[in-house]
Formats: sequence, C-alpha cells, structure tokens
Amino acid sequence: MAENLIVQGNSKEELYQTLFPQLVSLLEDEGDDIANMANISACLADTFHFWWVGFYRVVNDELVLGPFQGPLACTRIRKGRGVCGTAWERKETIIVPDVNLFPGHIACSSASRSEIVVPVFRGNEVVAVLDIDSEHFNTFDHTDRLWLEKIAGLFA
Ligand code: SME
Repeated sequence: MAENLIVQGNSKEELYQTLFPQLVSLLEDEGDDIANMANISACLADTFHFWWVGFYRVVNDELVLGPFQGPLACTRIRKGRGVCGTAWERKETIIVPDVNLFPGHIACSSASRSEIVVPVFRGNEVVAVLDIDSEHFNTFDHTDRLWLEKIAGLFA
C-alpha cells in the first residue's frame, strides 16, 4: 500500500483525477470494507478539507455510523430519514446545496451548510452511504457526484 497520498491540481476535477488511482490501488491491496472506508475518509478529508466525511453502513436495516473524519456524529439513521436515509431509500445520490431547505435533514453539526450523500452498492443492494458535509453553502456539484460515485463503485 502507498504510504503517502500525493494529490495535486488546480481544480476539484484535477484533485479527484490524481486521488482516484491511488484509492484504486488502496482497495486492490485490501479487502476489508471498514479499513477501506477509513482510508477513503482520510484521503478525502486530506485532499478537500471537508467539514465531515464518512460512511454509514447498512446494519440490520438501519444505517450505522462507520469510519469518518470530522466532529462527533449521530450513530443511527433509519431508512427514509434525513439525507442519508433518503439516498439509501431512493438508491441515488442526493446533493443538498442548503441543508436548511431539505425537509427532515438531520443536523449532526450546526456548522454544516451543504451536503452530498452517495449510495454504496454491492450488486443491486445499498450496503452503505458515503456522506460529506461542508460548512459552506453550494459546495457540491456534478464533478463531486461523478467522482464520488466512482469512488463508491470501488466497493462493488
Ligand atoms: N445530515 C445527515 C446526517 C449525518 S451527518 O451529516 C454526519 C442526514 O441528514 O442524513
């Protein structure tokens, strides 16, 4: 496994481009989901300095907090609840430009302003979600969606 993360670029697109192959080799070398979720969270936090980045895993039909980087977070989320539970139920990525305008948003941190949640599939089933919070409004766009879906796809 690479010991150092090397990311460079002048744009979000370029940063994701240099980050992605390193995540691919990380997951090629390790089969444990929790270890991989931990390293992906660390790499995304290191690269983009997100307020909160981490995974919730589907355990007994509930989302349970998994590896993350950032402040304390709520531990369990039911299907259809909050942005995470909604992305799980709909089986699709949700971008929330302003969390105040998302009905049922679960505020783990009052500093969070915008959010993206990407389902992690194994086969046709959602086994986890990748959740990222920003302390700024309108942080996430189609570039994040594209690359984060590719990153979530590494668990397939
Ligand atoms: N805001 C999320 C809850 C998880 S925290 O952001 C870490 C939601 O509404 O599902």
